[in-house]
Amino acid sequence: MTDFPFTFDLLFPQGLPSRVDNHIQRRLSALRGQFLDQHAYQAMLDVEDCLLYEVYEIRRPELPGEMLMGISVVHPGKVGREFFMTKGHYHAVLDTCEVYTCLKGEGVMVMETPEGETAVEKLSPGKVLYVPPRWAHRSVCTGRAEDLVTFFVYPAHSGHDYGTIEQRGFRKRVLDGPKGVEIVDNDG
Ligand code: PA5
Ligand code: NI
Repeated sequence: MTDFPFTFDLLFPQGLPSRVDNHIQRRLSALRGQFLDQHAYQAMLDVEDCLLYEVYEIRRPELPGEMLMGISVVHPGKVGREFFMTKGHYHAVLDTCEVYTCLKGEGVMVMETPEGETAVEKLSPGKVLYVPPRWAHRSVCTGRAEDLVTFFVYPAHSGHDYGTIEQRGFRKRVLDGPKGVEIVDNDG
């Protein structure tokens, strides 16, 4: 890889990058066990393994001193009353942070630490979110019809630990309630 400064564009109205080295698509089947309403989950899956979110990555060497950048697009939709969301993860190197900038749509970032602290921050266009080291993070699209599009950047050696969240889930869930977006405890 040539080490020379480079630029790329975020192309609006979609907010997608002009340069993409890797395009990841995650479907309903990738989040088995994560949604509260398991009947609604299975009923949806029986009809179609629908696309929940996509990630457009710009590749760099996964070394300290490098940063990884990309765009995350969470599509609108719900499983039962629960909004579409990413798998969510801790960084494998726990002491690494991440910065998200919301480009488009409405959503929240659900976060927690291994010690049990929790935080939920709203995302809307122009909002910048700093996720400190040690905080697991999951993006949730709360828009009715619009994608949640965020630009992220994090240390390239961070890695992903998905297993902890797959086993325990997050402590908070984001549901569509009679008065709008509801943040509830995950009792399961
Ligand atoms: O590094 C990040 O936090 C993001 O790039 C996420 O990977 C992206 O939003 C997709 O979420 P997940 O990796 O939890 O599937
Ligand atoms: Ni991350």
